[in-house]
Amino acid sequence: MNMNIAALQQEILRLKKEKDFCILAHSYQAREICEIADFTGDSYKLSVDASKVQNQNILMCGVRFMAETCKILSPEKRVILSQPLAGCEMADQMDRELIAQVKEQYPDYTVVAYINTTAALKTICDVCVTSSSAVKIVNHIENKNILFIPDCNLGSFVAAQCPDKNIKLLRGGCPVHASVTPEEARAMKERYPDAELLVHPECVPAVCEMADYIGSTSGIMNYAVKSDKKEFIIGTEISIAEHLQYMCPDKQFHVLSLKLVCANMKATTLMDVYNCLTGKGGEEILLSEETIRDAGKCIDEMIRLGE
Ligand code: 13P
Ligand code: SF4
Repeated sequence: MNMNIAALQQEILRLKKEKDFCILAHSYQAREICEIADFTGDSYKLSVDASKVQNQNILMCGVRFMAETCKILSPEKRVILSQPLAGCEMADQMDRELIAQVKEQYPDYTVVAYINTTAALKTICDVCVTSSSAVKIVNHIENKNILFIPDCNLGSFVAAQCPDKNIKLLRGGCPVHASVTPEEARAMKERYPDAELLVHPECVPAVCEMADYIGSTSGIMNYAVKSDKKEFIIGTEISIAEHLQYMCPDKQFHVLSLKLVCANMKATTLMDVYNCLTGKGGEEILLSEETIRDAGKCIDEMIRLGE
């Protein structure tokens, strides 16, 4: 078969209907994938959308922890990860055994896990958060003592917004976002003095301090679309600047750094999506009943406290 992108998209739309698939695409996915998705957005929005889906099959175009979250929220459905190699470097930094040991040192702390964690690790945490819900959820937790894992940059951002909490951080984080230095941010601001700097809280605090807005991928997109300003420097995965440029052709978007490329998010291609729908690609997410039950408590708590 030899098809161009538009013809392949049409075939995907036909197959998804015929095979009763719902396609979820994280905002870091390529434009041609977002175009054929039923839902796009940040990790919080996708997890809520996934819980309401009626279709028997869910195809997650994103990374493994996102597909696991879908499976936990919809255990009766068949959940496929679009590209089996698409992990998340941050999610793989801390495992259940390590955090079980840390918990012994902090017995009266509530363990708050960024959603970028494995399903196995979530089973021993108290509540999940995403970048868009973290501050609200941490503020809603009764306990003053919080152990926030794995991202110390998002954790520092949350700690600054929740001064009444005693937040313990570990040394984890996203190598992609954390690679941007304050010097690079300063140089970009000097190069584009009229532009506003919008960054993801996975960036280091010294970069976040220079920003005009700090938020999740959807938060950054909404801010830029609604803003009266005409020029922006985008401090998250480079796909967001590209999507925004299509959405707002009269505005200008610059990427904060060319290092902001997530190879895991970029691993899914439109052909991968097609292959998943024809049963020749992807990976079905299989989790034990125990994992679904215990990790599910952590995610349900996120949805309850985030409402
Ligand atoms: P969002 O919560 O903004 O979707 O971010 C997910 C992510 O992996 C960012 O690197
Ligand atoms: Fe994980 Fe970072 Fe990629 Fe987000 S950008 S999926 S945190 S590696």
